[in-house]
Amino acid sequence: MLILDFGSQYTQLIARRVRECGVYSEIVPHTISPADLAAGRPAAIILSGGPASVTEAGSPTCDPGLLRLGIPVLGICYGLQLMAKMLGGRVLAAERREYGHAVLQVLKRQDLFVGLGARLQVWMSHGDQVAEVPKGFEIIARTPTAPVAAMANARKRLYGLQFHPEVVHTPKGLEILRNFLFRAAKCRGGWTAQSFVAAAVEQVRQTVGDGRVLCATSGGVDSSVLAALLHRAIGDRLECVFINNGLLRKNEAANVRRKFRDHLGIHVHCVDASRQFLKALRNVAGPERKRRIIGNVFIRVFEREAKRLGSPAFLAQGTLYPDVIESRSARGGPSATIKTHHNVGGLPTNLRFKLIEPFRHLFKDEVRRVGEQLGLPPEIVWRHPFPGPGLAVRIVGPVNPRKLKILREADAIFLEELHRAGVYRKIWQALSVLLPVKAVGVMGDERTYANVIALRAVTSRDGMTADWARLPHPVLARIATRITNEVKGVNRVVYDTSSKPPSTIEWE
Ligand code: XMP
Repeated sequence: MLILDFGSQYTQLIARRVRECGVYSEIVPHTISPADLAAGRPAAIILSGGPASVTEAGSPTCDPGLLRLGIPVLGICYGLQLMAKMLGGRVLAAERREYGHAVLQVLKRQDLFVGLGARLQVWMSHGDQVAEVPKGFEIIARTPTAPVAAMANARKRLYGLQFHPEVVHTPKGLEILRNFLFRAAKCRGGWTAQSFVAAAVEQVRQTVGDGRVLCATSGGVDSSVLAALLHRAIGDRLECVFINNGLLRKNEAANVRRKFRDHLGIHVHCVDASRQFLKALRNVAGPERKRRIIGNVFIRVFEREAKRLGSPAFLAQGTLYPDVIESRSARGGPSATIKTHHNVGGLPTNLRFKLIEPFRHLFKDEVRRVGEQLGLPPEIVWRHPFPGPGLAVRIVGPVNPRKLKILREADAIFLEELHRAGVYRKIWQALSVLLPVKAVGVMGDERTYANVIALRAVTSRDGMTADWARLPHPVLARIATRITNEVKGVNRVVYDTSSKPPSTIEWE
C-alpha cells in the first residue's frame, strides 16, 4: 500500500495504522509519477491529508493518471478534496475551519462502512469542503456541517473521507480502513513481525554472502534488535562495536557488554574513547556544536576500530523509517532542521562500507515487536530511547567530568524509582537535566548554594509530539528527596511540565 504524502501531520500515523492491519505500507512523495508508482505494484493508494487548500493556485497535487491505473484509491481530507477537484467535482473554500469531534451519518452502509452503525463518532480537521461530487460518485456519509463527509465510486474503487479514520478520536476508524484494505483493495494481510524477521534474515544473508558486518551498538533498542537480527542471519561474522563516549549513563558500558553476552550470546568489542570525546567538548556550550563534535569524533573512533577489525565490507545501521522520511523532507521540503540527529547523515560521504539498514522501513514500535519476536528480554525491548550525544545534551552548557558525575547519579535514582513504582513502561522517555543555575538551599542548619536538576518524563507514540507524564506525586516526592539527599552538589529538583511542541523532549 502506498501513501502519497501531502504534508499532513498524520501521514505517518496512516502508514502505521495500515501496518497494524497486517498490510505493509510506505509513504511516497505526492509528486510520484504513475509509472514509478505502478512499478511498486501497490494493492492500493491512499492520498493523505495536508495543510494546503486545493482552491489555491500552486497547492500540491498529484498526477491525475494515478486515479486511472485501476488501483483502488482512498483520499483522506485534503486527499478527498484533491480527488474531487481532479475528477470534476466542486470544492468550496471554507469560511472557517471545522476542528474536532463530529457525528457522521452513514447513508450507505456498504463498502467502507460495512458492519458499522448508522451514526459514527469521527474526527474532523479541515477548512474546505466538497460541495459537489464528481460524476460517477455518490455521497455515502455526511455530517451536520459537511454535506460530503464520504464519497465513493465503487465501480472504479475510488473513495474519499473528509474525516480522519487514522486518529484514535475516530473510534471505528481502523474498521473503516480495514474495509478499504480488505474489501475494496482485496489486500490479504499477513505482514507481521514474524514474517518481517524471516524476510529480513534471508535478505541479509543474500546481501552479505560470506562477508562480515560491522555494527555500532549503543545498547539502545534499535541497535540491540539490529544486532540480534544480524546475529541470527550471519552468526559470528557480525562484529559489534560499542564506543564509550564518556557521555553515557551510570554503569552503561558494563551493562551493555553483559546484556549482549547473556541475552544475545554476542561478544561486543568495547572501546573506551571517553577522554577523546571530553577533550573535544571542553568549553563547548552550543547544543548543535556539541552534536557536530560528538558526531565527528565518533566517526574517527569508529573508523579506527573498523580498521583494527580488518575493515569488514558491510556496515549495519539501525536507521528507522521516520529518520528516512524526515531526512527526505528536510532535503526536498520546507521543514526546518530543529536538531541535527547524527544517526542519519552523520557518516562520511566517502564511506567505504556497503550499508545494511534492515529497519529502514520500520517504526519504533515495530522494531520493538521484532525484538520480542527475536526473543529479546523486556529490559532491552522496552528501554527508553537515549540520544547519540548522550548526557552532553542533558548538561546545559559546557560538559565536564564533575557535571557528568552529578547528572549520572541523579539520573540513576530517577530511573530506579520509575522502575520501582512500576511506571517506567508507561513512559516514552525519562531523563534528568543538569541546569546551569545555582540555587540557595538549607541543609542541616547550613546555607547551601548548589545545582538544580530538572526531571523530564514524557509520554509519546514516536517522539515527534509528546506530553509530560503525569507521574504520581508520591513518586515525584520520593525521587526529589532521594536526589537532594544522595547526590552531592544538588539541592533542588524541578519537574518539567512542557509538552512537545512547543518544547522538545531533550533540553538541548
Ligand atoms: P527532541 O529533543 O528533538 O527529541 O524532541 C526527539 C527524540 O530524539 C532523541 N534525540 C536524539 N537522538 N541524536 C539522537 O540519536 C540526537 O542528537 C538527538 N537529539 C534528540 C531524543 O532523545 C528523543 O527521543
